[in-house]
Amino acid sequence: MHSALLLASALECTAFAHPSPRPRARADPDCAPRTTTYISSALTSETSTVEWTYNGTSLDGPKVHPVNSTTFDWWYFDAVSSDLSSGDLSSVVITFYTASHEGFGALSNDTTILETSITGTLSDGTPFDFAKFPTEATVVTEGDGSAGVWGEGGTEWSSSPDLKHWIIKFNDPDDNVSGQMTFQTIAPAHLPCGALEVGATELLMPHIGWANAVPDALAQVNFDFNGTAPSFTGPGYHDKNWGDQPFLDSVGSWYWGHGHLGPYSIVWFDARDITGKEYFSSYVAKAGKILSGSCSNGSVIVRPWGGEDTYPPPMTTATPDGFIVTYGNVEGKEMVVNVTTATAAVEFSYVYDRWIGTLAGGFTDGSGNYTGVAQYEEFKV
Ligand SMILES: *[C@@H]1O[C@H](CO)[C@@H](O)[C@H](O)[C@H]1NC(C)=O
Ligand SMILES: *[C@@H]1O[C@H](CO)[C@@H](O)[C@H](O)[C@H]1NC(C)=O
Ligand SMILES: *[C@@H]1O[C@H](CO)[C@@H](O)[C@H](O)[C@H]1NC(C)=O
Ligand SMILES: *[C@@H]1O[C@H](CO)[C@@H](O)[C@H](O)[C@H]1NC(C)=O
Ligand SMILES: *[C@@H]1O[C@H](CO)[C@@H](O)[C@H](O)[C@H]1NC(C)=O
Ligand SMILES: *[C@@H]1O[C@H](CO)[C@@H](O)[C@H](O)[C@H]1NC(C)=O
Ligand SMILES: *[C@@H]1O[C@H](CO)[C@@H](O)[C@H](O)[C@H]1NC(C)=O
Ligand SMILES: *[C@@H]1O[C@H](CO)[C@@H](O)[C@H](O)[C@H]1NC(C)=O
Repeated sequence: MHSALLLASALECTAFAHPSPRPRARADPDCAPRTTTYISSALTSETSTVEWTYNGTSLDGPKVHPVNSTTFDWWYFDAVSSDLSSGDLSSVVITFYTASHEGFGALSNDTTILETSITGTLSDGTPFDFAKFPTEATVVTEGDGSAGVWGEGGTEWSSSPDLKHWIIKFNDPDDNVSGQMTFQTIAPAHLPCGALEVGATELLMPHIGWANAVPDALAQVNFDFNGTAPSFTGPGYHDKNWGDQPFLDSVGSWYWGHGHLGPYSIVWFDARDITGKEYFSSYVAKAGKILSGSCSNGSVIVRPWGGEDTYPPPMTTATPDGFIVTYGNVEGKEMVVNVTTATAAVEFSYVYDRWIGTLAGGFTDGSGNYTGVAQYEEFKV
């Protein structure tokens, strides 16, 4: 178990505040309270207790206690190359799952709730993917931050309690997969309806939780994937989703994505529940300030363009060429962003696609004309 090592180093609460971090005692008075959750891989039929409201701390902690064979809780981290328009198609996603196959059907192993996966694209756009199934995991929270250790091989993440600094490692030398990415967060965390406030809802739609600890970060990525070495800088991102019933019983479809457009950090969520009702979550930030953070109708609308551009998305393998993301109210102005797909990172049957692409957009009053890169996905279930 590597949690002791992690606690002594990576999640040291004052580590990032000091120029030369040194191990500190657990009783450090500067440290916020910690929680530690040990998780076994076993499928259980205990009733899960699920959090839907932010209480002022533990934004990035476990939300489902315990994860049983129909509930799920995961931590998602990604980065995409900022040089995409000059031909570097590199991207990476690392996800730490506590979820059963029944809770989240995309997971292949129906004997465990623990999985770490790494997927992405090499610089020429070739997709790669790899997964491991550890037998135990540990999650520690401190302040709003977290650290997680999945198995004994050094596949783990940790943050500073203020969410500013992150390190995410995937390490499996036996399979020739190893490396890490670091994030320096540049945009404030938020929840489906806006900024972190005590009592704010964490529900994106009925039965689906969402907490976005890192809407945008300066990511530095260095991996060795079986002899190829995806190595790049660009926008990084981290969130978590969870649910109290199987994903497929809750979600009808969703469009999600994030990117960096000129000086703006943007995140979009435009989703439908199982009845077809639409839910929205807008996020636009600049210089460390949230300019749009809302779940009201029209705060953000996402619609496909090109290729299969029917809305709601039909159950076919055809996909759109991109999306138009319209933020209804960014400090009183409408912002329209054209997301154009460069390549697919994951194509999973009819159900799921994840892409990387370019952004172009600005305000409909004619001000601003910005470009950028994005990583984004579609579920249709
Ligand atoms: C898991 O917990 C949820 C409550 O959050 C409950 O509704 C469900 O029946 C439980 N599932 C199993 C398989 O026990
Ligand atoms: C807030 O919720 C977390 C679990 O997410 C829990 O560990 C913590 O004790 C709670 N804090 C307060 C002040 O209620
Ligand atoms: C499923 O996970 C278990 C660990 O819980 C592992 O032993 C087994 O090899 C995994 N199955 C596959 C097909 O990877
Ligand atoms: C790891 O890489 C080496 C050198 O390229 C290769 O010989 C070996 O088969 C790889 N091992 C696995 C498990 O992919
Ligand atoms: C690495 O390459 C070897 C040889 O082509 C292959 O057998 C193995 O599955 C690859 N490993 C991964 C993690 O993709
Ligand atoms: C959102 O507003 C549009 C336009 O007024 C309306 O057609 C649509 O039904 C609304 N959606 C929801 C979920 O309220
Ligand atoms: C988005 O931009 C692409 C690339 O410039 C362009 O081909 C496409 O027509 C634009 N889409 C829309 C809906 O304006
Ligand atoms: C934005 O700038 C690009 C060149 O940088 C130009 O091709 C494009 O027409 C401009 N778009 C708008 C709406 O001004």
